[in-house]
Amino acid sequence: MSSPPAADVTAGLAARLTDVVGPAHVLVDPELRAPFETDWTRRFGGPALLVVRPGSTAEVADVVRACAGAGVGVVAQGGNTGLVGGGVPPSPGRSPVIVLSTVRLTGLEPVDNAAAQVTAGAGVSLARLHAAAAAAGLAFPVDLAARDTATVGGMVATNAGGVHVMRYGSMRAQVVGAEAVLADGSVLSRLSGLVKDNTGYDLSQLLVGSEGTLGIVTAVRLRLVAAQPERVVALLGVDSTAAALALIDVLRRRVEGLEAAELFFDEGLALVREHGRLAAPLPRAFRAYLVVECGGLADPSESLFEVLAELDVPEAATAVATDRAGRASLWAYRERHTEAISALGVPHKLDVTLPQARLAEFEAAVRAVVAETAPGSTLVLFGHAGDGNLHVNVVGPPPEDETVDEAVLRLVAALSGSISAEHGIGRAKTRWLELSRTAAELTAMRAVKAALDPAGVLNPGVIFERV
Ligand code: FAD
Ligand code: MLT
Ligand code: ZN
Repeated sequence: MSSPPAADVTAGLAARLTDVVGPAHVLVDPELRAPFETDWTRRFGGPALLVVRPGSTAEVADVVRACAGAGVGVVAQGGNTGLVGGGVPPSPGRSPVIVLSTVRLTGLEPVDNAAAQVTAGAGVSLARLHAAAAAAGLAFPVDLAARDTATVGGMVATNAGGVHVMRYGSMRAQVVGAEAVLADGSVLSRLSGLVKDNTGYDLSQLLVGSEGTLGIVTAVRLRLVAAQPERVVALLGVDSTAAALALIDVLRRRVEGLEAAELFFDEGLALVREHGRLAAPLPRAFRAYLVVECGGLADPSESLFEVLAELDVPEAATAVATDRAGRASLWAYRERHTEAISALGVPHKLDVTLPQARLAEFEAAVRAVVAETAPGSTLVLFGHAGDGNLHVNVVGPPPEDETVDEAVLRLVAALSGSISAEHGIGRAKTRWLELSRTAAELTAMRAVKAALDPAGVLNPGVIFERV
């Protein structure tokens, strides 16, 4: 049987979806679709038949059912800040998809103070969630630089990490329950907030890190933590990665309320300073820099200063801030890496974790590998050193040239690391999944996908090139 022409499929589906969500929320015009068709890095993307913006879980279910019936894939998209191409359509020529944007799923219930939890719609931004938690005297502990745009649904789908993982864990650790639409349009809803609930498989947790391939998350029940209003941020100059790691080791044991230990290097600092027209953070230059943050109910700065003094960290290597504006200005040197790198060109972004004890070895080895496989390119390393997570950014090779990606990911595997620490596999890393997963794991993962989405409706080509 031959398939109907794409234009007929689009027209039929657009009419069907218009009945579900109304004409204002079915975007067929190429100009309106365009922002949803390319990812944040500009490296990934392709055409969607249309973009649909459902306003409720029931509408999401109807959209998914209609797409499944039409043999069209569904790419879930939240804030489109993902960095592995998982939230945008595949390159032209692949099976037809629509983009399902969660931009209208923005319901945010009042904070449940008794449970210290909140239920948020998938489209709620991280910044809005932070504000709601703070207004209730609590905090949502996951934080990342894309906070104004990244959504709760996208963060659950990617199991986002960010800068506070060392104290609070990644998104997975905050998810008490979730609501999601499966590939057949059925709805799973576990939003009651029961902290203890051992009644078989934890389906909410199965959705965490599933990157839109197992279900469309429509709402999430999240745990909140005690606010830590007294804060100190220090930017410390160090001579090497090994020195930075040794410092983190001591701070982790000795300092109260350590929540972030972020590493970057002189080349990244130069780029960020030029891009943002920022002054030097310290009176002299260093090879590497650590941003550390501690939070507490009482001022944690004394505890930090005491340890830095014992370690003889010189004054010229230390910038400290306790007030909000000062803290933000120190964080800017770290947080603005992503935008400064993208301003240079389309980056190859490789987000990897190494065993903590091998991070310094990796830093030296990856510089050599990139110099060999992408000569003349710009390499910028930075990341969440407290979690063994480095972001390897290479600007220079054309977006479709995967030579450097392959070489770096093979190096990571050889050092017993993971090819994705926090961004996911998306479309970017499907080729290399077996470097981090055993054959038995891949078989089990494919079985889960086949059981929940036998026709491959949800995010085809993400995590697995083919199921
Ligand atoms: P999108 O980009 O829209 O989608 C990401 C993936 O989730 C896709 O596979 C998509 O299909 C799926 N998805 C989205 N919504 C849903 C849903 N409702 N149901 C099912 N699947 C869905 N990431 C980190 O982990 N740590 C960081 O520190 C960090 N910092 C960043 C800083 C900057 C400046 C930028 C641009 C990005 C950063 N990221 C970071 C990456 C990104 O912000 C996260 O991956 C975030 O979780 C993506 O959220 P989103 O709403 O933008 O998702
Ligand atoms: C970060 O830690 O800032 C991010 O994960 C973004 C990036 O890797 O560029
Ligand atoms: Zn990161």
